[in-house]
Formats: sequence, structure tokens, C-alpha cells
Amino acid sequence: MAPQKQLKLAAFMRPISIHTGAWRYPGAYPDANFNAAHLERFIQTLERGRFDAFFMADHLAVLNMPIAALKRSHTVTSFEPFTLLSFLAHATRFIGLVATASTTFDEPYHVARRFASLDHLSRGRAGWNIVTTANPDAALNFGLDEHVEHDERYRRAREFYDVVTGLWDSFADDAFVRDVDAGLYFEPKKLHVLNHKGKHLSVRGPLNIARPVQGWPVIVQAGSSEAGRQLAAETAEVIFGASSTLHSAQEFYADIKARLDKRGRHPDSLKILPGAFVVVGESRAEALDKRERLDGLVHDDSAIASLSVMLGHDASRFDLDALLPEIPETNASQSGRRRVIELARREKLSVRQLARRFGGYGGLSFVGTASSIADEMQEWLEGEGADGFNVMFPYLPGGLDDFVEQVVPELQRRGLFRREYAGSTLRENLGLVRPPNQFF
Ligand SMILES: Cc1cc2nc3c(=O)[nH]c(=O)nc-3n(C[C@H](O)[C@H](O)[C@H](O)COP(=O)(O)O)c2cc1C
Repeated sequence: MAPQKQLKLAAFMRPISIHTGAWRYPGAYPDANFNAAHLERFIQTLERGRFDAFFMADHLAVLNMPIAALKRSHTVTSFEPFTLLSFLAHATRFIGLVATASTTFDEPYHVARRFASLDHLSRGRAGWNIVTTANPDAALNFGLDEHVEHDERYRRAREFYDVVTGLWDSFADDAFVRDVDAGLYFEPKKLHVLNHKGKHLSVRGPLNIARPVQGWPVIVQAGSSEAGRQLAAETAEVIFGASSTLHSAQEFYADIKARLDKRGRHPDSLKILPGAFVVVGESRAEALDKRERLDGLVHDDSAIASLSVMLGHDASRFDLDALLPEIPETNASQSGRRRVIELARREKLSVRQLARRFGGYGGLSFVGTASSIADEMQEWLEGEGADGFNVMFPYLPGGLDDFVEQVVPELQRRGLFRREYAGSTLRENLGLVRPPNQFF
């Protein structure tokens, strides 16, 4: 019998929670965004739960919302991910450390150095979530008057990836001979100068850091537009998906795995992890109560503003009690807009109802007992909708502790999740091969 396929689990860590009402939930830590001790406790709990990775999202501007909404939300601010993950690397031994870095507003030499450093510091646990940055306000913080156009961002991202991976391969794995007697520190034949001159980027190289422990830190992607899918099929090893139904997840899963096949990549070389917001209760009724209590803590101003961000369109001008009108595509997230419109049409929600849904957290959620949540995760895994999940906790520390103490043991009991880490690098735990150096 073939061995049971197992789930991969990442934790999508907004330090207070992704849910905008979470900082007001009883027992929450409203100061967790800037309290390193809380973050240390969270990651150690995740490691005890054998999570594959701690994912720290990052944004290069406060959220593009009016101040009336911004003032109600903890999701506005957070630590810079590399500073935080370097600190957390020291507090853990096995869990992967995934940071977001933008290909639109960063430079490949900086990005290559930071991830190579984090990979060495953590002994092989770094991952790079490649984003092209959807928030138009980021442009205003980086010397531009206007955001770069959507598909142009993805074209730069593709070239950016080639440069970063090329820089990681600057030195052969065995370049540093450190021959004390001969006085030779590294072998010059084992140094490659990239000399990249492309349409968007010009980088000579070499990188001034030894090849990362993992060869390359694990490549993660989170876009799901046509351009996002294509970039993922060409480069990603993990996708943080955003499907909200098993059916749409299966469509996405089949599409991505077919794109891999076309490129001669093995289906297991890319793990698809949809985001799942998980609320655990002793009974289903208790879990639903928790969710309702949490959603009740979202302010209306915040709800309408969240909907506007998702749509790339000011929703406060719509009739709040009518159905959502037709909304043209904008330069922001294409997949985000599509998701909102699909939900509005499917459930015939008014603008106000839709806003409340997205004001807290509008994506896929599993709300129930440890056993019912394990059933749903198993159905998604076995039904080829997911290789695992990017888990979001409704509030912390309570929601995180519940997951690790109740859901993880249930998954382990069913053979759906590891009891011990397979290795000490993120690649080993995800079952990904270490890429060979392309120049040596
Ligand atoms: C789970 C998840 C995590 C994300 N994390 C970030 C992030 O940290 N920073 C960021 O700028 N965008 C982030 N995004 C947004 C994506 O990078 C992307 O812009 C968005 O999904 C729209 O992609 P599309 O334009 O290809 O549809 C995230 C998206 C998802 C689904």
C-alpha cells in the first residue's frame, strides 16, 4: 500500500491575527505586533506542533484604507520580517522561516543577500515569498507617483528570480577551501560572476555571501492571476493559495500541476497550501460562537474599507443594502477582486453583508471540532485541492494553542501529519530537493 500522503502546514502569522477584530478578543495580546516575547512564544508553540513554517507577510505601506478604518485595525503595522525572523531563528531549531520580499520595490542584490544570510543564520530554514506588491500606496514610498502595471510587475518578477537565484549560485558549494597552510581562503575557479544585463535589471555580481545552506531558500508564491500562476509554475516550490471552496481549489490545483507537467517539473516539486482560517471548539456550537463573537468585534468602517481594498474600488459609495454593482478590473489584486465578486454573486449578499464578511476574514474557514476540522483537511488533501494549509489563527495565543493541542494530535493520530521533523532544513521537511548549482 502506498504510504499515506501527509499535510504540510505553514502558519500565516499576523502577530495578532489576520482577523481585524482579533485584538479586541478576550485574552488576546493587542501589543503582539511589537512584542518579541509574544512572538517567541508563538513560534515555539508552532514548533512543538511540528509546523513546517512560520510565514511573516510584509507590506511596504500601511494598508490603503481611509484613516477612519485604519485607526481600528491592528493589521496596519508589524515588524520588518528579516529582523524578526533572525531573532526567531535563534529561538527555534526546526521550523521554517518564510519572509515576504517584493520584486517591484526591492533590488535583487539586497534580496539575495538577506535570504542567504537568514538561511545561514537558521542553518537552512529560510523561504522567500515572492510578491509583486498589490498595494498602490507602496509606490509612493519608493519614489514613484504611480504603481507599476500588474503584468509588468510580473515580468520584472520573473527576471528578478533569475538574478536572485543566479546570485545565490555565485560560489560553488565547496568554494571555501580555507587552506591555512597555503593561505588560500577560496578557490577562484569556483566563483561565478553573473554579469546580468536584462530588460529590467542590471547586476554584475558575484554575491558576497557563500551559497545558502539549502542551495536556494525555498521559493514561495502567492499570486493567482494568470501572470501569477505562470510565474509560480516556472519558479515556485510552495504556493500560498487563496481558494475558498474545495471545487475552486481543485481547479487551481489541477491547473498549476498541469503547468508544471508542461515544464517537465514533477508534481511534488510544488506544494499548494491554501490559506485556512481555523476556529476550534469543544463542540461545533462553541466554535461557531467564537467565530460570531470575533466577527462582532469588527467595526463597520473597517469592514467597508477592507472590501474596498479587495475590490480595488471605493465601496463606501455603493448602496450598502443593495447587491454589489458591476466593478471593472483595476491595477490591484485580480484574484482578490474575483473572489469577492464570486462570493457576492453566489450567496446574493448585499454590500454591507459582504463587507462584514471580508471585514473580519472572508476566505476559507474551518470552524468546528478538532475532528471535523481534520475531516475537512483530509478531504482537501485526498481530493487534490491541497497539499496542506497555510493556517491562520482567529486570535492569539488561544486560537493557536487550540490548534496545536487539539487539531495537530488528531491529524497525527490519522497519520495525516508528522510526529517528528524529517530533517533540520525547510527543504527536507517539505520534501523538496536541494537545487544543484547552475554554474558548477
Ligand atoms: C496567503 C497570501 C499571503 C500574501 N502575502 C503577501 C505579503 O506578505 N505581501 C504582499 O505584498 N502581498 C501578499 N499577498 C498578495 C499576493 O502576493 C498577490 O499580490 C495577490 O494574491 C494578488 O495576486 P494576483 O495579482 O496575481 O492576483 C499574499 C497573498 C496571499 C494569498
